[in-house]
Amino acid sequence: KTLDVTERLDNLKQVCDLDEGRIAGEIFYSQAIYEQELEKIFARCWLFVAHESQLVKTGDYITTTMGEDEVIVVRQKDGSIKVFLNACPHRGNKVCFSESGSTRGFICNYHGWSFDTAGNLVGQHESGIYEASDFDKSKWGLREVAKVDTYKGLVFATFDPESPSLQEYLGPMTWYLDALFDNQEGGTEFVGGCIRSTYECNWKIAAENFVGDILHAGWTHDSAARAMLGGSVAKVSDFDESYSVNWNGHGYEFALDTVGNVAVLGESKLNRYIHTIKPSVAERLGDFRSNMIASVSSCTIFPNFSFLPGQNTVRVWQPRGPNKIELFTWVVVNKSAPDEIKEMWRKGAMMTFSPTGVFEMDDGENWEYCTKTAKGRVTAKQDLYVGLGMDTFMEETRLPGNVYQGQLNEANSRAFYQYWYDLLSAHTWSEVPNRNKGKVEAE
Ligand code: FES
Ligand code: FE
Repeated sequence: KTLDVTERLDNLKQVCDLDEGRIAGEIFYSQAIYEQELEKIFARCWLFVAHESQLVKTGDYITTTMGEDEVIVVRQKDGSIKVFLNACPHRGNKVCFSESGSTRGFICNYHGWSFDTAGNLVGQHESGIYEASDFDKSKWGLREVAKVDTYKGLVFATFDPESPSLQEYLGPMTWYLDALFDNQEGGTEFVGGCIRSTYECNWKIAAENFVGDILHAGWTHDSAARAMLGGSVAKVSDFDESYSVNWNGHGYEFALDTVGNVAVLGESKLNRYIHTIKPSVAERLGDFRSNMIASVSSCTIFPNFSFLPGQNTVRVWQPRGPNKIELFTWVVVNKSAPDEIKEMWRKGAMMTFSPTGVFEMDDGENWEYCTKTAKGRVTAKQDLYVGLGMDTFMEETRLPGNVYQGQLNEANSRAFYQYWYDLLSAHTWSEVPNRNKGKVEAE
């Protein structure tokens, strides 16, 4: 029996069966599913909103979105960070139109309500009228997002007061995040601004590409690599030691002792820098992670925060409908790196993963067609295969997380779609099943 979309939502098992290694194209195009995602994923999960280096002093702010909700992220007098809806509590007008800056407050263009950086309503045009009508100013400040927390410079927020703590949400993935975000004293910073671009693709296609799809690299990016780097993309199946690790819907796949494409640029100076800092990384994080720092690898923290260590690009796939994303992308560097090296990372990332970057163009076209084909009613019902590496779970390992052998593996993609499925099916966090079977901590 063919179910209509509402029935299929009630019975998601019809749409995806991860034990069988299949999903349906429909999940990339359905408006009904998208509405559920905004509600059950983007209004509940921890979402990346800023890097602390973007908010240095009191009053520094950036504007971004959490799902389709516009928000302001602002540094407070006491050093903490608050996140507010970028929508005036009078008629809902946007109160901040700038992408970033430093301010003492926000004033709404419509009727002149003004707010301090802590979100308090502090003044209005014709304020006497409000006073005469017993208006209680203290109740009408900017609406604050439920929880904000940081991990190694990365600022996350969630709309849901019931969500697990950030630490619990990220789980053992933090052990791997440290390889990029905490490999040197002083941590990391973003350099340059935020590059924004749009793609006509579903957000999950992009997020899943970074959660663990190295398989496409050697094929999709081969011609760009030849033109740009003068040779093919490294053959992943030739790497000695590689893993796919996941936890909840997050995933990180990496090969030890390899270097990403950007490190090849800049007359190998980046490569030399990586080798220079390696001993101190080994001291800080141990040998294993010192071999991960700029490796051929990628990561997505569910739902839409991703990065590539070997290219130092960090990005958020902002959903803008079932078949559109706005991509926010930044370049991340070690704060302690020499300026020349920071500049090389920045240029390298722009040449590869930016709207004009050779690799990003390759990916964008694929992702748009993965989405558009699902517009067809019959094509949307087609099963799609995500079954690679079904039996590669590693029982015997000292590594934390759910660890799978090899990078050419769809274990992380399955975990991503499974968590997506579990969140859409669950009404509360306690209904989300714990499917993790690996260790919480490294041994
Ligand atoms: Fe902002 Fe009226 S909508 S002051
Ligand atoms: Fe790619």
